[in-house]
Amino acid sequence: MEALREQNRRSWNAVVPAHQSHRPGQAAFLRAGGRSVFPEELALLGELAGRSLLHLLCNAGQDSLSFAALGAQVTGVDISDAAIEQARRLSAESGIAAEFVRADVYDFLAAPPRSYDLIYCGYGAICWLHDLELFARGVAAALAPGGRFALMEFHPASNMFDANWRLAHSYPAGGTLLTLDGVGDYVGAAGGGLSPGGFAEGVAGFVNPEPCHLFRWGVGEVVSALAGAGLVLRALREFTYVNGERPFERMEPAGERRWRQPDDVPAIPLMYGVMAEKLGSRNT
Ligand SMILES: C[S@@+](CC[C@H](N)C(=O)[O-])C[C@H]1O[C@@H](n2cnc3c(N)ncnc32)[C@H](O)[C@@H]1O
Repeated sequence: MEALREQNRRSWNAVVPAHQSHRPGQAAFLRAGGRSVFPEELALLGELAGRSLLHLLCNAGQDSLSFAALGAQVTGVDISDAAIEQARRLSAESGIAAEFVRADVYDFLAAPPRSYDLIYCGYGAICWLHDLELFARGVAAALAPGGRFALMEFHPASNMFDANWRLAHSYPAGGTLLTLDGVGDYVGAAGGGLSPGGFAEGVAGFVNPEPCHLFRWGVGEVVSALAGAGLVLRALREFTYVNGERPFERMEPAGERRWRQPDDVPAIPLMYGVMAEKLGSRNT
């Protein structure tokens, strides 16, 4: 598993510059009060002001810094050197303070430096986890009593369809390994959905020379892992639109950087959100 994760680190290091090439105005956008995060994850997280927030698999930090600008004291963790370097640069350039740690999520959760009021991850996080139960136990241990874990994810049911909405794959389950040619330039493909500060054509025709390895999990497995780690499930929400990315052909704009299926395709869940709490009273 360590070799697979190191390979994923290389794949992410290779793609981050291509992603960033499409986001020229990111620092100015954040400095001017813009936020990249969506109402769905904010609703799951609840109050941010004065809370410590651990953002796992934080990528290049735009969401972490958006949470920080909303009042949270944020630590972002990601395995990619290039992503963490970019996150630190964005923090300096936007003037929004946050701590960024380059680490494998399992290594970080095995010895967290403190406990957190809030732990969040999302939008392509679960698929990088080879052991959901170990992850959930780590999250539960790193949460302060009364703390919350929030997750916003692409719905695995939508992974059953090909880009043209044809039923093509089995429901993801069991952490089945999926090896791809490499992490792609989904920021470029989103055409602005993932670059709210402004979109540039940037790198064209990016081909990642580094393959990557993903793990396929169903919603029930995610929720069961959290419950098995002792967290109390408070919300499981499903959405028939997707924020930011456009994973299918002919998607229709649904406003505010959201996309839904075309009218001739029956609605399927495209995202889901989970909120689970650690029992106990929060120290104020
Ligand atoms: C799709 S991105 C998450 C998107 C992110 N929510 C955002 O706002 O852009 C997935 C991230 O997971 C990170 N990652 C993959 N495997 C990891 C691991 N084992 N430990 C920590 N980070 C990991 C990658 O480097 C990448 O930045």
